[in-house]
Amino acid sequence: MTSDGHTRILADGNELPLLGLGVWQVSNSQECADAVLWALELGYRHIDTAQAYGNEESVGQGLRESGVPRDEVFVTTKFRPTSGNDPADEAARSLERLGIDRLDLYLVHSPAGGPTWAWPGMERSRELGYARSVGISNYDVGEVETVLSGASVPPVVNQVQFNPFAYRKALLNLCEQHGIVLEAYSPLGTGRHLADETVGRIAGRLGRTPAQVLLRWCFQREIPVIPKSTHRERIAENAEIFDFTLTDGDLAELDGLDRTGGTGQAVENKWWRG
Ligand code: A2P
Repeated sequence: MTSDGHTRILADGNELPLLGLGVWQVSNSQECADAVLWALELGYRHIDTAQAYGNEESVGQGLRESGVPRDEVFVTTKFRPTSGNDPADEAARSLERLGIDRLDLYLVHSPAGGPTWAWPGMERSRELGYARSVGISNYDVGEVETVLSGASVPPVVNQVQFNPFAYRKALLNLCEQHGIVLEAYSPLGTGRHLADETVGRIAGRLGRTPAQVLLRWCFQREIPVIPKSTHRERIAENAEIFDFTLTDGDLAELDGLDRTGGTGQAVENKWWRG
């Protein structure tokens, strides 16, 4: 962690802000550009998109409209692995759509087709200067081990579904052992966990919202989170997680909501397996 406690240093030395805006399921539209613009106005310095989301142009528009200097924003996109396409070629296309010269982080979106075939192209994307850092997403324990066994440049991030209900301890431990930062998508369970009774009770006691409690649970573990919202007031609410603390008792209670039994497995269907 860095001195302000709001970023995490990756194994390759790059700095990842712990809070980012996610834009999954937001179409390539003014709505997406606005969400990015509002997030940057509200102090976010990390935006997470993907080729498969189809909204990189709008993300680029929001970045430009914000006027925030490019080197102050951490931009992630993800390689969509279809049969045999080339990560470096696709990175160049992403850069064009985003209107930027270099990605901060480029992830293989899933182990579709096997966990290793795309990795050499990811390493090449980094060598070519298309991305400062490279990593993986949706990789389970065995898949992380497999990609590591053949990598010249190891992945520095594994972005996965992660929240108290999907507290994937085995995966988290493995990633930590290998210097891979686990990054949490669906930190709110795509909104479903906001109505949970335990989360609500803790939020009520602290005078915070359920979303803030779920995000703070990740933050206190130094796990980067990328909550998605297209509503300005929610984007603002999700950023107000730095000025309160969950007690050890709160953390333990939230940990107890886990439905994975501590395994590395995803709770939801593996959509990328078709
Ligand atoms: P919306 O985009 O309409 O605001 P996750 O990040 O786990 O995928 O969750 C995203 C979902 O949760 C979206 O449906 C989003 O809806 C909703 N959401 C995000 N932040 C909040 C919030 N602070 N309060 C209520 N719902 C939220």
